[in-house]
Amino acid sequence: MAKVYFDKMQLNDLDDVNQIESDNYPVPWSRGVIKSCIKAGYHCIVVKQQQQIIGYAFLMTAYDESHLLNMCIDNGYQGMGLGRKLLKYLENICIYNHSKVFLLEVRESNPVAQSLYKSFGFSQIGVRKNYYRCVQGRENAIVMTKNIAP
Ligand SMILES: CC(C)(COP(=O)(O)OP(=O)(O)OC[C@H]1O[C@@H](n2cnc3c(N)ncnc32)[C@H](O)[C@@H]1OP(=O)(O)O)[C@@H](O)C(=O)NCCC(=O)NCCS
Repeated sequence: MAKVYFDKMQLNDLDDVNQIESDNYPVPWSRGVIKSCIKAGYHCIVVKQQQQIIGYAFLMTAYDESHLLNMCIDNGYQGMGLGRKLLKYLENICIYNHSKVFLLEVRESNPVAQSLYKSFGFSQIGVRKNYYRCVQGRENAIVMTKNIAP
């Protein structure tokens, strides 16, 4: 497998990120939401291989907490350990920003992501009822956190 690396997302990555988002989620973020995350100055990271974007993440750091807003590895590259590597990279951003808590939400219907987060040391702290839109209706979010060692 060719070398995979991480880079800061730029506005001209918008088309590629939007395409991956649409291909990997039944209810994807809009292009406008992606653009506003980049413009807001969140930690917006792309995963690249030979200059091609194959994944990404959006992380918001605020005071002593970092919130993972979205992370995705394109479907042809899943199951190869890249999600775990990306999460480790994000955790290092949390550490660098002196976060005490790393927080995320995950759909109840997403066992793959839940399994990744649990094995990475996240624990469930609650449920947000009807948090996510679905193709039909709504779905609960599981809220998970991981304490970041000082
Ligand atoms: C969730 C996601 C980011 C995981 O990335 P990935 O690169 O496929 O995951 P990895 O190969 O690094 O695997 C990490 C862990 O995820 C879990 N996992 C991965 N593929 C799995 C599968 N097919 N079935 C069950 N668990 C799986 C395992 O716990 C795995 O750990 P292990 O390899 O030690 O068993 C990726 O599948 C994805 O982008 N999915 C679509 C978007 C999404 O759901 N994002 C998360 C939103 S909260």
